[in-house]
Amino acid sequence: MPSLRYDASLPVAERKRHGVYYTPAGVTRYLVRATAPCGPVVDLSCGDGAFLVEAARSGLPVIGVERDPEALAHARATLGPEATLLLGDGLATVLPCAPDVVLGNPPYLEAKKADPAVKAQCRARFPHIARGGFDVYICFLKAGLDALPPGGRLGYILPNKFLVAEYARALREELLAETTLEEVIDVSDLPTFRDAAVYPVLLVLRKTPPPSGHRVRTGVVTDLAQLDDGTFPRAEVRQAAWAADARRIWWLPPTDPTARVLTDRLMDDPTAVRLGDVLDVRWTISFHRAGLRDAFIFPTPTGDFPMRLLGGKRFHGNADVGRYRTAWSGWWIDYDPDRARAAGNALPPRALFEGEKLVIAQNARRLQATLDRDGFACKDTFLVARARPSAPPLPYLLALLNASLLSYLYAVRCKATHVGGAYLHYLGCYLDALPLRLAADPAPFVALAECLLDPALPAAERRALDDALDELVFDLYGCSAEERALVRAAVPYAWGEPGARRGAWNALEGK
Ligand SMILES: C[S@@+](CC[C@H](N)C(=O)[O-])C[C@H]1O[C@@H](n2cnc3c(N)ncnc32)[C@H](O)[C@@H]1O
Repeated sequence: MPSLRYDASLPVAERKRHGVYYTPAGVTRYLVRATAPCGPVVDLSCGDGAFLVEAARSGLPVIGVERDPEALAHARATLGPEATLLLGDGLATVLPCAPDVVLGNPPYLEAKKADPAVKAQCRARFPHIARGGFDVYICFLKAGLDALPPGGRLGYILPNKFLVAEYARALREELLAETTLEEVIDVSDLPTFRDAAVYPVLLVLRKTPPPSGHRVRTGVVTDLAQLDDGTFPRAEVRQAAWAADARRIWWLPPTDPTARVLTDRLMDDPTAVRLGDVLDVRWTISFHRAGLRDAFIFPTPTGDFPMRLLGGKRFHGNADVGRYRTAWSGWWIDYDPDRARAAGNALPPRALFEGEKLVIAQNARRLQATLDRDGFACKDTFLVARARPSAPPLPYLLALLNASLLSYLYAVRCKATHVGGAYLHYLGCYLDALPLRLAADPAPFVALAECLLDPALPAAERRALDDALDELVFDLYGCSAEERALVRAAVPYAWGEPGARRGAWNALEGK
């Protein structure tokens, strides 16, 4: 393989348009070894042939499809005349024979950025899979699966969003039911990928229904060399546990034994209710087109329906809400539903914002929520959560949400929502499944939460009360001293004071 690969010579816009990011050799070697091919090997988007070159070393026939003729010429130069290399669309090409193994790193193209013709073709070919805001890679995964005969293996490198994204749920469900998931390895912390702002996982599966009690091998790789020598930390999870998850989320168990005991115990805690049973979490005000924000959001009350707005400040809207803290930055919205509808951008019903509600930051380093009793409207940097009938008091639920333990559980289940750095993305569809234990007596939680909601509370007391509340929540969930230490070390403290730990989510194991 030449040292500077063909993809690196392409203009950035071209690479983005077609998802051209070639796979490092450590990953191709690993996936070839893990899938152990003994017959034809196929890559439906082969680029310069990285996977095929690796597979061809053991003398196996290889077949590659690629849309870019120049990339294919590079593959030909390395692989020689023996290889079958087809110029065309990997989603539509008829293969000359059934593969034993399908390998690949498909193009990652989000629906909102992908070429409309490519999207339309995906929807037509894979109507059950290419739905909602799908990404093109899931069609390549489905096409690879369809190309395999029963018993064949597939080894792909995929964005970790596949593990959690709503658009991928139907395909995850199909894989859970019809294939044996052999390995899901998190390689998102490898510097190679972090620099490219992609967060991939390796998936190895066999096209055969899972034997009962089957356990998926998982692991976390932080150095490419670990893939070669197999020294990365590993864990296991029952495939049936993923199949039982409300959203079929493939959460990766921590590799640290203490952390694993904790998450196994709490992830499907039978003594807890689910957050979605007691809170109705809603998306708030979005403006879908450039310019619309300026037509509705103002620094002074404007129009016939002015409402105070959290998150109104351009670019820095997130600062309006902290844990137990509302810090309105002074922006107003003209809450005129008719004018909004006429602009093609409906607003949620005003009642969403009236009365008591929790407000939760959508992007943060840990769960960050406050209680609003002043009827603020909220922009989409925040979620609004209202109590369902028979819910415990809102300050009680606030205390749980802001506790380190709940942030920890969310991060384990939804690490793949990370939006860059140590920031996670908090969405209603993921929050819904959080296990909330109901205390026999919520009063101590409520009293501490009410104190913390007081903006005049001095910082030192704030820290002490916050720690006390964390302890109450640990008691409620029956956590050992070791488990408490682990969670405290992993969850970034979030009062923004100097010395607050940064990037701690890369160390979910609490190291
Ligand atoms: C992420 S790169 C991976 C290439 C190679 N498999 C590797 O692992 O290094 C994705 C490749 O898919 C190709 N591609 C994009 N759309 C395609 C399509 N519809 N059919 C075939 N190849 C396609 C791109 O040109 C690019 O070479």
